[in-house]
Amino acid sequence: MNHFLDIHTTDKNDLRSIIDNARVMKDARNGRPKGTRDDEQPLAGRMVALIFEKPSTRTRVSFDVGVRQMGGETMVLSGKEMQLGHGETIADTARVLSRYVDLIMIRTFEEATLHEMAEHATVPVINGLTNRTHPCQIMADVLTYEEHRGPIAGKKVVWSGDGNNVCASFLHAAGQFGFDFTFTGPMPLDPEPEWIGFARAQGVRAQIERDPHKAVEGADLVVTDTWVSMHDPESAKERRHNQLRGYQVNEDLMSKAKPDALFMHCLPAHRNDEATSAIMDGPHSVIFDEAENRLHAQKAIMRWCLGV
Ligand code: CP
Ligand code: NVA
Repeated sequence: MNHFLDIHTTDKNDLRSIIDNARVMKDARNGRPKGTRDDEQPLAGRMVALIFEKPSTRTRVSFDVGVRQMGGETMVLSGKEMQLGHGETIADTARVLSRYVDLIMIRTFEEATLHEMAEHATVPVINGLTNRTHPCQIMADVLTYEEHRGPIAGKKVVWSGDGNNVCASFLHAAGQFGFDFTFTGPMPLDPEPEWIGFARAQGVRAQIERDPHKAVEGADLVVTDTWVSMHDPESAKERRHNQLRGYQVNEDLMSKAKPDALFMHCLPAHRNDEATSAIMDGPHSVIFDEAENRLHAQKAIMRWCLGV
């Protein structure tokens, strides 16, 4: 049994085989209706709990559909409606859920909640986003890049905007999959030095460049995300907009990247804030492939977790 808690704590070879398996499983479905089951039913007889302490569209639907395609069943639980939100400890919740279900996916606030769940569960736990990381998203993004452009190793990825949880998992992936990563944004919103250190320790170039136009020069992939994340206080909104306006991904900025560069955004987006609609709907954009690939990447992650 394997937990999937983060990209930097998962073995490189396992990450590679998850991406490769996702691709094989995606190809095997090739245009079949979404509601049909896969030929292989590795999750037959398995029950999966999907716990959400924050809102979600993609994570919720893609996990639910993925489990069903593989023959399993799901229950979607809201943190607030569980005893978890009313004083029961994470450890006890983990022990109890492990008696009922075969796999737990949790989207939560503090990273400590995820780790406590994993420590006390006797079934695999998957990180569906914390304040600090979002590994399932970046597995889907690596799959998406490679489908369009081949191996991501050695490529230049530029993140423009807030150095948030999604940016953190991108830095982990830089180290594990071997691509260069440049962050461009204002200093107060830099990614955590620990994550930059992790990427560098794996031998890749991970750097900060304050000038977005310089940063994007020669980029193979330009990525951004919302300027205000779910865990950020609403009061941060105005300040964030002032800090980040110059880092919007628009046609002018994108023109500095390589002509065949891709544009990614994990969604949900605030159109014409962090990226213009011209970019989101333009020729560089692969945002809806990323969303689709959440399904395929997570199916491969669940199989790896359960060893099936
Ligand atoms: N990208 C992503 O995780 O989307 P949701 O918040 O809709 O799950
Ligand atoms: N950074 C965003 C990602 C949403 C999928 C957030 O945490 O709200």
